Amino acid sequence: MISGYVRRAGLVDVLGAFGARNVQGEEQQKLDVIANETVKQAIGFTGRVCVMASEEEGDPVPVPAERNPGKYVLLYDPLDGSSNIDVNVSIGTIFSIHKRATPGNGPGTLADCMQVGRDQIAAGYVIYGSSTVLVYSVGHGVHLFTLDPTIGEFRLLNHDIQTPPVGKFYSVNESYYQRWTEGYRRVVQMFKGVEDPQQRKNARYIGSLVADFHRNLLAGGVFMYPADSKSPKGKLRLQYEANPLAFIAEQAGGKATDGARRILDIEPEELHQRTPLIIGSTSDVDFVMQTVTEVDAATVT
Ligand code: AHG
Ligand code: MN
Ligand code: MN
Repeated sequence: MISGYVRRAGLVDVLGAFGARNVQGEEQQKLDVIANETVKQAIGFTGRVCVMASEEEGDPVPVPAERNPGKYVLLYDPLDGSSNIDVNVSIGTIFSIHKRATPGNGPGTLADCMQVGRDQIAAGYVIYGSSTVLVYSVGHGVHLFTLDPTIGEFRLLNHDIQTPPVGKFYSVNESYYQRWTEGYRRVVQMFKGVEDPQQRKNARYIGSLVADFHRNLLAGGVFMYPADSKSPKGKLRLQYEANPLAFIAEQAGGKATDGARRILDIEPEELHQRTPLIIGSTSDVDFVMQTVTEVDAATVT
């Protein structure tokens, strides 16, 4: 349904700003709101979930008792990469699924949405790119399906994806270079081959986390959204961006940290809390962590 809107953007009134700000303080795009409502309605009536939490909703959305709340919890970013909607660049939807944590079978609560990432039972994303691709895992490998618009079904293309241990790409918004610690500056210099041509990687930054993550998952690479002087906790949200992608990355043999800790071990304190994110090929993530730790320890400010 969201893919249908995305592919007709402009022909149907889904472009531009919605005219409100979300709990993140971000200007909501029309498609953010449409995608959010689509997921809420489509999933809220399945009887499978007891509560949903969305990037576009300040509070969790409990499933009312009369709809027979289910035993699962859905956390989601209905539309990731909103800045790219109006310029026809790939965007996506990210989802994270937990078992309900609170007793009973009534509507779920905030506590159900505040579970640690390692307890996820499923996670995945849909990317609205040159084709509409679904990637998910239920803890037994990562599987990729492509939507066949001629029959309206997702067809399995890749079973049990393994991400290359060393990647071809690094993805980071280098316009924040001045805000980073010395460690991240050094990492990016090394990825440019300044110290050793062997360490050079291709720079690719789409500005949609899902698209940058997906390319790195398949081709190998590392995505970095570090903490910086203006965003001391980073920009990306733990519960419905970092955790689901970290689950996928690890299931595909990759890694995800906040620069120090494994993303999946970070105990959430707030529903919309942000985290720095270094995610992708294990060897590259380790290299970033090691370099940043060494350099920032040495440059005591
Ligand atoms: P969203 O559109 O859901 O708010 O997410 C946008 C995120 C993520 O998709 C992307 O990696 C990042 O914002 C880009 O941020 P910068 O423009 O600061 O690089
Ligand atoms: Mn997002
Ligand atoms: Mn979003």
